[in-house]
Amino acid sequence: MKHAVLITGATSGLGLAYAKEYAKRGYNLIITGRRENKIIENANYIENTYHVKVKVVIVDLAKEEGLNLLLNEIKEEEIEVLVNNAGFGLKPVFSEVPKEDVDRIMFLQMNAVVLLTQNILKQMLPRHKGTIINISSDGAFAVMPRNVLYSSTKLFILNFTEGLYMELIDTAIRVQVVCPGFIDSDFHESAGMKVVKKKNGFMKFMDPQEIVRLAMKDLKKGRVVSVPGSEAKIIRFIAAFLPRKIFYNIIINFTRKRNHKLDTNIRKNDD
Ligand SMILES: NC(=O)c1ccc[n+]([C@@H]2O[C@H](COP(=O)([O-])OP(=O)(O)OC[C@H]3O[C@@H](n4cnc5c(N)ncnc54)[C@H](OP(=O)(O)O)[C@@H]3O)[C@@H](O)[C@H]2O)c1
Repeated sequence: MKHAVLITGATSGLGLAYAKEYAKRGYNLIITGRRENKIIENANYIENTYHVKVKVVIVDLAKEEGLNLLLNEIKEEEIEVLVNNAGFGLKPVFSEVPKEDVDRIMFLQMNAVVLLTQNILKQMLPRHKGTIINISSDGAFAVMPRNVLYSSTKLFILNFTEGLYMELIDTAIRVQVVCPGFIDSDFHESAGMKVVKKKNGFMKFMDPQEIVRLAMKDLKKGRVVSVPGSEAKIIRFIAAFLPRKIFYNIIINFTRKRNHKLDTNIRKNDD
C-alpha cells in the first residue's frame, strides 16, 4: 500500500481519531488492535466515508510474537506516517501489579514503540520522507502514586522521541511526541477504573478529535513536544519549576483525595 499511515491501537479513542484525521487528508491506513469486531467496523466506516484503503491487523502488541506478526504484515507497505498510539493503564499499587502486567506494559509502551519505530525509520530514511508520532502522556511530566509504571513508560517515550528528534535533525523525517491529559476514550474502562468523566473545568476529559487537531497544529509548527489542553500544560509547568519537595506534597495530597473518592465510589458500587 502506498501513501499509508500506520496507527497502532485504532480501535477506539485517540488512535481512532488519528485514523479519521489522516483518512480525511486522503491517506490509506494500516490500523491495529485486538477487539476484532470493533476495529473492522471502524475500518468499514472509514473506507465508506473517506474513500481510502484500510488494512486491519489484529494483533496483541504487548507480546514479541504480536510485534513480529505486525512487522511481517507491513514488510511490503510504504509507510509515510507512523503513530505509536497503543497503550493501556494499570489500576493496582505497584507492589501488587502481577508480573504478566509488568511485562505487558513495558513491552507495549517501550519495546514495541522502539522496534516499530526503528523498522519503519529504515524504510523512511532512503525515501527522504516520513513522520513519526509517539503518544506519551502528561504522566511523563508528573508521576503519581498508583500510576508509577505507566508514567515511567510514558517518560521513556518522551525522552526517546526528543532524542530521536535531535538525531534526525539533518534528515527529512519529522518526529513528534504528544502528551495529553485525560482523554474521553475507552482507556479507564479497559483498565477496570471507575471514573467520572468531567466534561468541563480543571482535569476535564478531552475529546480525542480535539487532541488530534491541536497536535496536528503543533506538528505543522514543528513543535516536537505537543501538550494539548491547558491541564496538561499546567502539570508540565508545575513539574518543571516547583522544588521537588513541594511538588511531591501537591501530588501526594491530590492522589490521597482522588484515591479516597475512588475507593468510596468503588465501595458504593459494590454495595
Ligand atoms: N485516556 C487517557 O486519559 C490518556 C491520557 C494520556 C495519554 N493516553 C494515551 O493515549 C493513547 C491512546 O489511549 P486512549 O485514551 O485512546 O485509550 P483507548 O480508547 O483504550 O485506546 C487504546 C488503544 O490501544 C490499543 N491497545 C491496548 N492494549 C493493546 C495491546 N496489548 N495490543 C495492541 N493494541 C492495544 C487498544 O486496542 P484493543 O483494546 O482493541 O487492543 C486501543 O485501540 C495510549 O497510549 C494512552 O496511554 C491516554
